[in-house]
Amino acid sequence: MQTDVLQSPTSHVTAASRAKLHGHRGAVLWLTGLSGSGKTTLAHAVEMRLHHERYRTYVLDGDLLRGGLNVDLGFSDEDRSENIRRAGELAKLFLDAGTIVFCAFISPFASDRQSVRAQIGADTFFEVYCRCPLEVCEQRDVKGLYQRVRDGTLAQFTGISSSYEPPSCPDVVIDTDRTSVPAAVDQVMALLRDRGLLR
Ligand code: PPS
Ligand code: MG
Repeated sequence: MQTDVLQSPTSHVTAASRAKLHGHRGAVLWLTGLSGSGKTTLAHAVEMRLHHERYRTYVLDGDLLRGGLNVDLGFSDEDRSENIRRAGELAKLFLDAGTIVFCAFISPFASDRQSVRAQIGADTFFEVYCRCPLEVCEQRDVKGLYQRVRDGTLAQFTGISSSYEPPSCPDVVIDTDRTSVPAAVDQVMALLRDRGLLR
């Protein structure tokens, strides 16, 4: 059987030509923080702001990937690392397509976040720390997960029975317990503008 025709050719569409077509280059905005810290909310809110301004965007979310691509993974340290590795690979593809991609994952381990940053490149990967005290996340308990931890029916929970390593040098810190969503969006937009990603 002839197989050479089946091999994927290197794309002739360059990053520069995609950027020209879109009017902007791609980037990865990596949102990290405890469960309930506001990662998903912020990612979608910034995406909507950019979408209205005709930027190519997409959101990759932990809950979403864990329902499909990463359905085989749990919450052990090893599985969390594999989850982030796969998410990073996926983000790279979206980046290659010229998209501004928001990645909303707890991503509790600094070394995993660092690996993704190293793979993507420091001028294209921006770490957004959604900082929120554990007690506030517990009070919010949007999905009832903290209650399940208290009831003893949910193990390996981030910040309680599984560790979270805060970023030591994030590109931006959003204190989500005292920042409104529009003000948080402004903070991320300012970062994007500052790094030359906006038209
Ligand atoms: S990780 O740590 O980056 O691999 O996690 P992630 O892929 O972002 O998935 C986090 C969402 O999974 C739900 N969930 C849990 N989170 C933390 N610890 C445990 N044990 C757990 N079990 C289920 C929860 O909905 C998380 O979503 P967010 O939006 O962070 O609350
Ligand atoms: Mg979420």
